[in-house]
Amino acid sequence: MAFLQGLDSHIIIVGCGISGIGAAQKLLNHGFHNVRILEATGRCGGRIRTGRFGKKIVEIGANWIHGPSQENPIFRLACQYNLLDPESMSEENQAMDIGGHPPFVPNWFSSSGKRLGPELMLPATSLFVSLTEECQDFHASGQEPVPSVGQYIKREARRRAVELWDDATTRDLSLATMSMLLKLECCISGTHTMDDVGLGAFGMYKTLPGLDCTFPGGYEGLIRCMMNELPKDIVSFNRPVKCIHWNNSVQGADSSGRTFPVLVECENGESFPADHVILTVPLGMSAAKPRAFRYLKRHQATLLSPPLPLPKVHSIQRMGFGTNNKIFVEFEQPFWDPDCESIYFVWEDEANLVDVVPDLQTSWIKKLFGFTWFHDPYTCGSYSYIAKGCSGYDIDILAEPLPMKGSGTQSLQVLFAGEATNNSFFSTVHGALMSGWREGDRLISHYRPSSSSSSVSVSSKL
Ligand SMILES: Cc1cc2nc3c(=O)[nH]c(=O)nc-3n(C[C@H](O)[C@H](O)[C@H](O)COP(=O)(O)OP(=O)(O)OC[C@H]3O[C@@H](n4cnc5c(N)ncnc54)[C@H](O)[C@@H]3O)c2cc1C
Ligand SMILES: *[C@@H]1O[C@H](CO)[C@@H](O)[C@H](O)[C@H]1NC(C)=O
Ligand SMILES: *[C@@H]1O[C@H](CO)[C@@H](O)[C@H](O)[C@H]1NC(C)=O
Repeated sequence: MAFLQGLDSHIIIVGCGISGIGAAQKLLNHGFHNVRILEATGRCGGRIRTGRFGKKIVEIGANWIHGPSQENPIFRLACQYNLLDPESMSEENQAMDIGGHPPFVPNWFSSSGKRLGPELMLPATSLFVSLTEECQDFHASGQEPVPSVGQYIKREARRRAVELWDDATTRDLSLATMSMLLKLECCISGTHTMDDVGLGAFGMYKTLPGLDCTFPGGYEGLIRCMMNELPKDIVSFNRPVKCIHWNNSVQGADSSGRTFPVLVECENGESFPADHVILTVPLGMSAAKPRAFRYLKRHQATLLSPPLPLPKVHSIQRMGFGTNNKIFVEFEQPFWDPDCESIYFVWEDEANLVDVVPDLQTSWIKKLFGFTWFHDPYTCGSYSYIAKGCSGYDIDILAEPLPMKGSGTQSLQVLFAGEATNNSFFSTVHGALMSGWREGDRLISHYRPSSSSSSVSVSSKL
């Protein structure tokens, strides 16, 4: 009986990115029927967004399926909906374990316009790869000789460069190459500098096997397919949520006079009473420093009332969140090899190992690590990373529902999903989807009588 009543509970999901869609899908498949998604914008998909550039499609947001293999739910869905090309789905591709660094065929160019050959570039590249692998190992060993990945790589690269390259010109060029690789690493981590990325937690990010692949018809096709399986009217668009009043702080009631512990208030004045709210807004956004740090203060004081408990605020402040910019350029003629998949720029004056460019306003071009030629135009967007001084513990705290443990009031009023709430797969589409499923499951098991799984006839609706 308890479960059947649970199915009537009113659930509001804030945000229609992949994590919100995933949570809705889970809940509806398990018989919950009062589920509504409130989305601030006029579209679904959030940070998954496909645009057009001339005759080509361009990924303004996410581009890759990282680790496309059976363990990756995005890959499984993409196969199910038939959205990938045969090569991406092949057993061979799925088995390829590249540890998060796809082996693109590169071309290298120097700032004086010279082509740089592999004989010069490969030794520096392989030193850099070993250094990042060493960084990942600190997670398992529980050690942290310096606080950040940037500090470790720079210190070791300088030390080993002296041992490896006697000739000063080669050494400087190798160090400059590693500066470029540091910038590439900044882009992967979505951070301004690797000096902000915590060393001890760097290995926490889990890579899955599979050679990273893209959606030939655009990532947004996945969103369309998933949305097709949800009821047509489940999303209320253009409903930015202004405040989630929880803990019975504002009494919401429905037409029958039933009261609810949570009232979700939108900017337009509309409000929705709820038993449970799953919040999927990019929480990390509030953590970027220092500008958005102020945003957080405003945000957390107003988005939830009562405000977020301090442990959560602190974890949000510790988490990192950076910005990547994509710039798309079209050339009349290719100046690269026909088989080239990736072009890297080596600034010859960067033997001092820099990943931060002074005066970004005028010399932003030096922050570019290079080009890949799969996708086009221009946008900015971001995801989370584990900042210096921050740990997996912070992600667990972020993911903990409100009221927090030990409080006597009605449980699971506000739940947290989104890419920043998974400690192995943060910053990815699959991590975001898993986090939505996780919060859906949390509500499902909350209402399901624990010892009588066979009695849950409604799950046969799946
Ligand atoms: C440029 C870029 C490139 C990326 N590349 C990759 C990649 O190649 N591979 C990969 O796996 N991942 C990549 N990512 C990360 C991936 O896109 C995200 O991790 C994932 O899409 C996040 O999903 P989400 O549901 O957690 O959040 P989002 O997609 O951000 O969804 C949150 C939703 O909440 C809405 N919202 C916000 N505030 C409110 C409010 N107050 N009220 C109502 N709604 C609100 C937003 O409009 C949005 O629709 C990339 C991200 C960016 C930005
Ligand atoms: C929630 O409400 C209870 C009872 O009114 C109160 O004791 C408690 O402090 C409130 N919790 C928060 C986080 O405000
Ligand atoms: C993140 O996802 C992995 C894989 O599903 C899971 O084992 C782990 O518990 C998740 N972490 C959190 C905090 O949800």
